[in-house]
Amino acid sequence: MTDADAVSPGPVPDPAAMRKQYRAEGLSEAGLAATPLEQFARWFKDAAVEAHLFEPNAMVVSTADAEGRPGSRTVLLKHFDEQGFVFYTNYDSHKARDLAENPYVSLLFPWHPMARQVIVRGVARRTGRDETAAYFRTRPHGSQLGAWASAQSSVIATRADLDASYAELAARYPEGEQVPVPPHWGGFRVAPQSVEFWQGRLNRLHDRLRYVAEADGSWRVERLSP
Ligand SMILES: Cc1cc2nc3c(=O)[nH]c(=O)nc-3n(C[C@H](O)[C@H](O)[C@H](O)COP(=O)(O)O)c2cc1C
Repeated sequence: MTDADAVSPGPVPDPAAMRKQYRAEGLSEAGLAATPLEQFARWFKDAAVEAHLFEPNAMVVSTADAEGRPGSRTVLLKHFDEQGFVFYTNYDSHKARDLAENPYVSLLFPWHPMARQVIVRGVARRTGRDETAAYFRTRPHGSQLGAWASAQSSVIATRADLDASYAELAARYPEGEQVPVPPHWGGFRVAPQSVEFWQGRLNRLHDRLRYVAEADGSWRVERLSP
């Protein structure tokens, strides 16, 4: 810590005094798409194209280890279709170790400016190496090197060590040179078991509609009390 870090930020806003009335129009059973993935596509488009949200593909991924100890972090959704929701990460990271012990996962899209959230619960499996490699090649050169340079979630001594590791890789693989896909890096596809669409309404009487997967592959929709 330097002296500058210790300077007081001044008066801090009181979170209990932050109160917004949600006014958005409701979400009805009749208006829902046949599958949660189609409904997600509609809301994702609203978030990206109409509301211009910053990184609407940012989602909070919650995992738990074999003892049920939870952990959450933000990652970016990179693909979705009827098979599920895909993100990429380091297979030695904390989240990936949790998923190796316990594949149950929750994804939360916090679209606050629209008074909406989507919560997916399901099972995560690694994507195939071909799919991972195809995505890795679309990443900018610097991000490809970053995936090699970082032993994600491990303790490191200094920032300089990380920068040195990156510089070494940048020298080995200059811009324009193909960077191999790191073996410890890849995707997870979350196959949904339930997907809840939450729309904020007046007086905290929000709409919550949840699709639940049936054994025959169809979806049941249920309304939850807010
Ligand atoms: C907006 C945002 C996007 C992120 N996207 C990713 C991502 O796509 N993949 C990833 O591994 N980490 C991503 N991170 C970093 C993670 O939040 C987290 O720090 C990292 O994955 C290590 O998590 P873990 O130690 O719990 O495994 C992102 C962070 C933020 C704030």
